[in-house]
Amino acid sequence: MSLHSHRQAIHDSLRLISAALSASSLYSIEHQQVRSLVPKIRENLANLLSRQAEFTFLIIKEDLLFDGKPLERTPHTERIARLFYARNVGFIRFHQGLDSREVELLLRVAVGLEEAAIFNTDTPHIDYGEIDTPEDLEGRRPIFCFEELTDEELQSISTFYDTIGDKDNFDIRDVSSIIAGFVSAFQQEANPLLALVPLREEDEYTFTHSINVAILNIAQANSLGFGEQLLHDVGIAGMLHDSGKIFIDKEILRKPGGLSDEEWRQMQQHPSRGAQYLMGQEGIPLLAIITAFEHHMRYDKKGYPQVSFDWQVNLCTQMTMISDTFDALRTRRTYKEPWDFAKISGRMLELVGKQLNPHLTLNFLKMMSELGEKIIESGISLSAEVPPRSEAELARRHVCE
Ligand SMILES: [Fe+2]
Ligand SMILES: [Fe+2]
Repeated sequence: MSLHSHRQAIHDSLRLISAALSASSLYSIEHQQVRSLVPKIRENLANLLSRQAEFTFLIIKEDLLFDGKPLERTPHTERIARLFYARNVGFIRFHQGLDSREVELLLRVAVGLEEAAIFNTDTPHIDYGEIDTPEDLEGRRPIFCFEELTDEELQSISTFYDTIGDKDNFDIRDVSSIIAGFVSAFQQEANPLLALVPLREEDEYTFTHSINVAILNIAQANSLGFGEQLLHDVGIAGMLHDSGKIFIDKEILRKPGGLSDEEWRQMQQHPSRGAQYLMGQEGIPLLAIITAFEHHMRYDKKGYPQVSFDWQVNLCTQMTMISDTFDALRTRRTYKEPWDFAKISGRMLELVGKQLNPHLTLNFLKMMSELGEKIIESGISLSAEVPPRSEAELARRHVCE
């Protein structure tokens, strides 16, 4: 058999298996159409086994590999890969001597009528292995709450935000794996509010704020039905939106009173400095760069940096403005009591159409009130305990104030 006809023979077998599987889902596995395909499948596989004692199909999500070599993706390979992947089957190995009863069991496993473990007991000529999840999920450990972040993870974020001298050594992979952990938790229907970081020491504000904005961004994107890659990028954009602050004098960032005009001018540079910095780093999603640049522009474009009125502010930026505003209001430093959710949402509604996108804000508040109810039931307060600060001190901290 030439290499070409060998490939063809593999695809023929897969086409027949796929036909049997779609007939099983249309009719039933007992249907004549399926039954008539079983001996043909056996014959084709036996043919392949006539030139080698065994061969293996490896399953990677929607792709199939034959003895380690990727097969061209067709609707048939995709269907088979998808079905076995859903049964947690990582590979299937066929041995010489395969009979029709075993082929039938193979089909029954694919459609979920039998557990894959049956390959261990009932099919001497088929064996299998499960999907190797630990490797597959490396860096994707679900992070359900802030306390679950490891010391190294915390260190990697706080180093980024706190150590100006380390600006050049930023590694996106650290941030990326933390975000992947949050995304993973969301996909398991965790309540994202549990992951919000309680406000801690004053100088850690940017650090905790960044994680919170990332989580709130992922929550919004999740509620809008974004796919996994976008959830991830929107989370990264939230985490890095204020990265330009590493270029602003710490004294200005920490200044207890209001800012002078010159200090305020410097502060206003953080979006463009951040975008410039992120552009020079490897592996940063484009969305994160745009978001860093735009996140103080406001919905009515009256923020900064100033742009022409027809500038289209990115959707991810508009979501980030909402997360940013919510977190800033939640951790508002005043002599007064911390704001509760009703007061925060009231304030956000006042900002609709001016600072915030109306549709996205309504979606956000709806999502938060639903999640918030569950949180309140569990006895956790939505507002944060914050160190006192005067109204004057607040004046120029955030445009949302
Ligand atoms: Fe900012
Ligand atoms: Fe911010």
